[in-house]
Amino acid sequence: MSGSDASGKVPSVRSSRILSGIQPTGRFHWGNYFGAIRQYIELQTTGDAFYFIADLHALTTVREPSRLRELVRDAAIDLLALGLDPAHATLFVQSDVPEVTELTWLLLTVTPMGLLERCHAYKEKKTKGLPADAGLFTYPVLMAADILAYDATTVPVGEDQVQHIEVCRDLAGTFNHHYGDVFVLPKARVLDGSAKVPGTDGQKMSKSYENTLDLFETPASQKKKIMRITTDSRPMEEPKDPEADHLFALYRLVATPEETAAMAETYRRGGFGYGEVKKAVAAVAERFFADARARRETIAADDGLVEKVLADGADRARSQAARVLDRAKRACGLSLRKAGRA
Ligand code: ADP
Ligand code: TRP
Repeated sequence: MSGSDASGKVPSVRSSRILSGIQPTGRFHWGNYFGAIRQYIELQTTGDAFYFIADLHALTTVREPSRLRELVRDAAIDLLALGLDPAHATLFVQSDVPEVTELTWLLLTVTPMGLLERCHAYKEKKTKGLPADAGLFTYPVLMAADILAYDATTVPVGEDQVQHIEVCRDLAGTFNHHYGDVFVLPKARVLDGSAKVPGTDGQKMSKSYENTLDLFETPASQKKKIMRITTDSRPMEEPKDPEADHLFALYRLVATPEETAAMAETYRRGGFGYGEVKKAVAAVAERFFADARARRETIAADDGLVEKVLADGADRARSQAARVLDRAKRACGLSLRKAGRA
């Protein structure tokens, strides 16, 4: 982390800072893991990583306080159980860093309405004639503040979020144009397969389609869902193309390369029943997530552990965000008191 910005100037030499956020709007599913979380965890050793639970964003969809609290805690436990290591990555909750919401206001003052009107979350609601609040409308600006507050250089996101990173770059560019070199312009790093994990009905897995396989549901409940995965009704003897089948796509995520090759061969040969494949998916999935499941139980039972990780993360995140906020405020003519002292 650079200390040179204590002067109010943007640091000139920067190493890579990775940052991403994930919304706690439901329990994590296979799509979240294979499309995002697994890659965040892999990236934590490649640079200075900041990951946060986007509870302020979730407020636009979760309106039940006790449920939101539970989802935030579950998200933190899940991420730690899946391998996010606080020794490598700073893990924190978005709302624990109030500097970000203050920065959001500064950015809003350089945000054209038209830019937000084109953003997909709002546009989709509007097209469907659904009511949208100003929180959803300005969501990309909060997301831009999330990124800019930490001088992030690299933002790993799914394809659906690339538009928001463009908005962030746009706003940072405009602010810098008016006030000098304040913000670092981040780059999106599109995650592999971020649009591809199929759900139990063959469409993209998403909690909005109620077709998810959740990471930490019991093996029995998961098996039940897997046994109900929709399949086509072609006869058993007919050879099939594994690449065109969503059941096979799920199998390959959790099976070893050898098992995957053998299953592909079975498909091409034909003469098998989907019921057998489903049982195999359930069995390898249980094995794949067994260690994480055991770790999750230990972490959840350790009184105060999650709170401590999140408190440490928030301290680190706040000290970074405070420096950037101070830089931005001085640049646009606020914080006279602080500027006078420096
Ligand atoms: P949901 O669609 O269930 O509401 P989110 O939009 O909260 O999920 O997903 C957060 C991130 O998880 C996405 O930006 C994307 O990177 C990843 N993700 C979600 N669903 C999938 C999927 N079916 N396949 C691959 N990645 C996914
Ligand atoms: N909007 C992102 C999503 O729904 C979550 C998010 C919030 C985020 N702030 C962010 C992602 C900043 C990357 C950087 O998936």
